[in-house]
Amino acid sequence: MSDEQLKPERNLALELVRTTEAAAMAAARWMGRGDKNGADQAAVDAMRHVLGGVEMDGLVVIGEGEKDEAPMLYNGEVIGNGRPPLTDIAVDPVDGTTLTSKGQGGAIAVIAVAERGAMFNPGSLVYMEKLAVGPSGNGVVDIRLPVEKNIRALAKAKRCNVGDITAVVLDRPRHEGIIDEIRDAGARINLISDGDVAGAIACAWPDSGVDILFGIGGTPEGVIAAAALKAMGGDLQGRLYARNEDEVAAAAAEGLDLEQVLGLDDLVRGDDCFFAATGITTGDLLKGVGYANNTVTTQSLVMRSRSGTVRMVDAIHQPEKLRSLPTD
Ligand code: FBP
Repeated sequence: MSDEQLKPERNLALELVRTTEAAAMAAARWMGRGDKNGADQAAVDAMRHVLGGVEMDGLVVIGEGEKDEAPMLYNGEVIGNGRPPLTDIAVDPVDGTTLTSKGQGGAIAVIAVAERGAMFNPGSLVYMEKLAVGPSGNGVVDIRLPVEKNIRALAKAKRCNVGDITAVVLDRPRHEGIIDEIRDAGARINLISDGDVAGAIACAWPDSGVDILFGIGGTPEGVIAAAALKAMGGDLQGRLYARNEDEVAAAAAEGLDLEQVLGLDDLVRGDDCFFAATGITTGDLLKGVGYANNTVTTQSLVMRSRSGTVRMVDAIHQPEKLRSLPTD
């Protein structure tokens, strides 16, 4: 083998974490101000600024919406420094805009990157039914089966009682039926007010206290969480969800099948995706941005699917020094 072939491969996620750190630090300044759009805009500006310097020829597949509504990080925007590799990018500069605006825990800044053409394009279908589990549930659950069967299968795979399983569900009226089914099965429930990317990842995180995520949440968040679960060896299955007849018609016009079960490989094809997330406000998964002694601290998760390496990155930032640098 040549020296070139023996070189360790580049882990793009280690560069991407700078983009989520920047987004989190910008959004955290808006914590509790009651202005979720302000927090989101600050995060978008900061993330885009740092992304511009990352060595890749990136295409935003899942971004802040269409070009005319979103001036930055819009779907179809080309970003990075324009050099190879060609990539697809999914961003959510703030997952938990309401959490941030209210100063509640669990908001994160997040990005996923994969090879060009690898990411699922959800078209205009903004909601997806999701089922997420960690490695022990991989291959044992099926979104087409009743909730109770999946909980029983997971308990068996984890060699625990059904009563030991905790399901995480977004606290929404649309989930009343699922919540009843989980309770009837005998499992415990953790209702979250927002942030189902962190909720899905938590299912694969040791000692997080949650085992399985059920319910309907954002489709973009589903694709991003799929990239993380791919790296962690977990599973996420999705089914696009139409809220009304107009969305049913839109799905048909866009060639999207509402019955199709989207597995990890449909959501993010191949095995070379990268994921980074940084805490904005302190939650179960990540510490939020902290301020002390003229420094800013961040905590991030960095993952790469090919190696399966999951890193927790604690950083101390020096705002005074950063201001004098062009891109940090
Ligand atoms: P935002 O940060 O964009 O507000 O999203 C938060 C979130 O809770 C996502 O994590 C989740 O997928 C989605 O909203 C659920 O949508 P809805 O709030 O409409 O039920």
